[in-house]
Amino acid sequence: MRNFRAATALALVGSASAFWRMPCRSRTGLARMDPLMDPGEISDHVHSIFGGGNFGMTTTYEDLTQTGGDLNCTSCGVIEDQSAYWTPMLYWQSDDGKTEAVQQVGGMLAYYLLYLDDLKAFPEGFQMIAGSKNVRNFTGSFPDAELSSWPTDPTDQFFLQQRAIGFNCLNYNKAPEPSLYRHQFPDRDYLDANCLSGLRLELAFPSCSNGEKDSHDHKSHVAYPSLVKEGNCPEGYDTHHPFIFYESIFATNQYIGKGGKFVLSYGDPVGTGYHGDFIMGWKSADYLQSAIDDCTNDSGNVQDCPHFTLQDDSDAAKCTFPVPDALKGEDCEGPLDGLPVDVPVQDGPQPATAFPIAGRGGAQTTGLPSTTAKTSFALPTLTYSAANPSLTSTAQGGIIVAMYSSGANRLHAEAEATSPSYEAPTSSYEAPSSTYVAPASLITESPSIADAAPADDIISTTTYTQGNEVVELYIQEVEVTITATATAPSKHRRHVHQHIHHQRGARR
Ligand SMILES: *[C@@H]1O[C@H](CO)[C@@H](O)[C@H](O)[C@H]1NC(C)=O
Ligand SMILES: *[C@@H]1O[C@H](CO)[C@@H](O)[C@H](O)[C@H]1NC(C)=O
Ligand SMILES: *[C@@H]1O[C@H](CO)[C@@H](O)[C@H](O)[C@H]1NC(C)=O
Repeated sequence: MRNFRAATALALVGSASAFWRMPCRSRTGLARMDPLMDPGEISDHVHSIFGGGNFGMTTTYEDLTQTGGDLNCTSCGVIEDQSAYWTPMLYWQSDDGKTEAVQQVGGMLAYYLLYLDDLKAFPEGFQMIAGSKNVRNFTGSFPDAELSSWPTDPTDQFFLQQRAIGFNCLNYNKAPEPSLYRHQFPDRDYLDANCLSGLRLELAFPSCSNGEKDSHDHKSHVAYPSLVKEGNCPEGYDTHHPFIFYESIFATNQYIGKGGKFVLSYGDPVGTGYHGDFIMGWKSADYLQSAIDDCTNDSGNVQDCPHFTLQDDSDAAKCTFPVPDALKGEDCEGPLDGLPVDVPVQDGPQPATAFPIAGRGGAQTTGLPSTTAKTSFALPTLTYSAANPSLTSTAQGGIIVAMYSSGANRLHAEAEATSPSYEAPTSSYEAPSSTYVAPASLITESPSIADAAPADDIISTTTYTQGNEVVELYIQEVEVTITATATAPSKHRRHVHQHIHHQRGARR
């Protein structure tokens, strides 16, 4: 059965900060490519890649934005955004060693959250990496300490980086977990018992910069503010950019009860080395600036931004990059014997070590673009003014805290009122149809739409905010067969089937 039931996660309602949510419903590709870490070469691990179609081993801002023809495209919802967004792929490795790609549900979302003041567009040519692939442990408390106790001096970037990763246990029948709540994979027992709708991988990028477009390690020109999403920027990093936040949902629930483990493509079964890359590929920096200034509707919907030209998911899905010759025929989906290609699984807690890169003749992985780990962080030295307590004092561990008081009760009430799988249509109607409809007495009882084979694709998705909730509406076309007696022929009728998800919550 297709798993089309992903609900959007960030419930940002009534917030003072505007944002938009860039939907990237399909990949441009799945391949061992990483133009930032391994320019011009095969990358050591597989990435799930979205956005601009002119993606390859040496991609730059110019490549993404200046193409003509077939590669002038994006797999995201707004044609002016040909940015490249990519993260490592998630695999399932069963006890016999066989691996396969875990189904990624609904593509990915790239949030542009306008938290800091005096926001500047990313300059043309801007690119960055978040996370460090060799980290294999998380040393902080769980859940995070109250944000009010975090250092207000954001010099410990390692501390912040490890809290910019989230593994959100999804169960659409329960109150949602806050974003960036847990910074490594939940263990298998917990996953199997609780994460019945899958696992959402989250990655927050630094939003403070020194004004440069890039740096030798693609990291040191940017820094996290003191509370990851907001707060104070470190000295020398006083240019404020939108806060970029990736969400990718994986159908880990398909493996409940099976023997094995989840491993990220670079050999990480812990999750703490999760990372991602961004190359700014907006039409121009001025254009992005106008969106930052004007796309202030609280809904977060790209539909509500007057500047954006939208495209359908089906057009976005046509945007794929050409696979370079060196990678032609490489199977990144599996089933395979081990991770593609020959990546060793390294459990930690010590940092992962270098390994040979298949197809690169003896070349080894080059360790990290390292962000130095400190064994402990200094207590706040009040070099900076404290972060705004009204925004941060009670939020734990990240961007959003769902309303666990009245919000949670409402959510439960609502969950009980609908089918546990959220499959039952809350409304359905017959699409206008020219098919013959037999007199009622001649036809068999109309089958339930919920029983229909969910064979056809979602024909559209949309997200909107209604009061204190974000609703994601999926419209799926299903085919229902109605059998009639001999006096009337069998007919197929098209039905349009709506799935509605509600997520409630409030931003702190
Ligand atoms: C790319 O496509 C967009 C929209 O389809 C069009 O407006 C633009 O002129 C194209 N640019 C190039 C360089 O082909
Ligand atoms: C935000 O967008 C909605 C449509 O989704 C519209 O009804 C509303 O008026 C917009 N709000 C503002 C402040 O522009
Ligand atoms: C935990 O990870 C950090 C950063 O990679 C590393 O410096 C440290 O040695 C690790 N701890 C252990 C016990 O291996």
